[in-house]
Amino acid sequence: MSVKLLKEHLKRISKFQSASNLLHWDMLTNMPVAAGSWRAEVIGEISAHAFELFISDYTAELIDKAESGDLASQDKRVVELVKKDYSRLKKIPYELYKTFQIETSRSQKAWEEAKTKDNFDIFEPYLERVIKLLKEIIESIGYEDNRYDVLLDRYEPGLKTSELVNIIKELKTFLVAVVPEIEEKTLPLKRGVFEGCFSVYKQYKMAEEFLKLLGYDFNRGRLDTSEHPFTAFIGLGDVRITSNFKLDNLSHGFFALIHEFGHALYDLNIPQEFYGLPLGEGASMGIHESQSRFWENIIGRSFSFWEFARPIFVRHFPQLDSFTEEEFYNDANVVKRSLIRVYSDEVTYNLHIMLRFEIEEALINDRLSVKELPGVWNAKMKEYLNLVPINNRDGVLQDVHWSSGAFGYFPSYMLGNLYSAQIYYAMRSDVSEFDELVSKGDFTPIVNWLKEKIHKKGKLYDPKELIRIATGKEFDTSCFVRYIKEKYLGV
Ligand code: CO
Repeated sequence: MSVKLLKEHLKRISKFQSASNLLHWDMLTNMPVAAGSWRAEVIGEISAHAFELFISDYTAELIDKAESGDLASQDKRVVELVKKDYSRLKKIPYELYKTFQIETSRSQKAWEEAKTKDNFDIFEPYLERVIKLLKEIIESIGYEDNRYDVLLDRYEPGLKTSELVNIIKELKTFLVAVVPEIEEKTLPLKRGVFEGCFSVYKQYKMAEEFLKLLGYDFNRGRLDTSEHPFTAFIGLGDVRITSNFKLDNLSHGFFALIHEFGHALYDLNIPQEFYGLPLGEGASMGIHESQSRFWENIIGRSFSFWEFARPIFVRHFPQLDSFTEEEFYNDANVVKRSLIRVYSDEVTYNLHIMLRFEIEEALINDRLSVKELPGVWNAKMKEYLNLVPINNRDGVLQDVHWSSGAFGYFPSYMLGNLYSAQIYYAMRSDVSEFDELVSKGDFTPIVNWLKEKIHKKGKLYDPKELIRIATGKEFDTSCFVRYIKEKYLGV
């Protein structure tokens, strides 16, 4: 009985979050340019209100009441998750929290300017302040071994820095060694399939068709365009996708679309009764990213997928008729070291993440100063990818994350890649004729597998436990290594 009040309270707060998400989606898709500053204030006001409701004494009272009664297992999990968030936020002094919000929005603006002008000095003092505040926040929350654990726990509950270091150690050695060989095997075509001139409107129409074929429910979502593709989880029956279609390149918008489809499918399949509660979201950012990466890379870059997708591409863009399935497949799978993380392929991608993790972990633990950052960045690029950026715009200034204070987020991308490979092998042994299904475009058994094993569980489990339950095995990074070996080295 008493847990009911807590759940009602949480659902009420989540409705403010829904409103704010919708405003944010609008800001990035449709909003007139001049509305920017007012909109930011409106979103800030709503978020602040939701935050105050959450850290109120009333929440603490409801948690106490809920704990005093007998709890069903799902309600136990609700209380556990709320308590964790509540005690974390309660420990951060309100003034510090507010200063951090203000500083990070300033620092994002400084980062934009620094990137445009290719001048790290503009960003340096802002980043220094963000890191200083972040360390103060970590100190007030408290930690056992490593400051970075606190950051990691926000996105990947339960994962420790020391585990991540071990995962990276092995994977890095493997990747650094195989990348040159794989590059040799996946040379780009002289005339690329995906390069040319492609009507953006036609790309949008084709994207709509693909989403329907993959199983995206347009009664509960929509497709729009935005500068950076994203998925907006607005609320019950409303999970929207955006992509960004380029006139001169067909693969950019297409793979972004498939990626976002994976995120959206996850959110759409979360049980209705979890909505508005802490259970009503993905298990972690890494698990979320595993869903997008699964569709983008493991399905979307497989040979079977191109047997299915080629005729659709050719119907929308008849000029592609001269390309074979093999050529579509090969061109979607060119491995080439690049300076920019977001343009990198599924093999080299994790190297970009390792570099960022090592740098941010050192920054947070005072083993590296902001001043040294560009030099260290370039040295690590040389070591892992054998490339050196000629400017900071394509180097240390390329990502927005640090300016917004999102330290600890980068590993989610790598974990997503690793989880998705393990999920793939587990699914293959459960779903018979996997490749045939994909080549026929019959995705229902795959969608259902993901729904049953992953999506329906919402945030009932921490990521590692979810992986164990879904795949029947402990989290095992060798699945990713096996996937790369099988796909690119024919092992
Ligand atoms: Co993503």
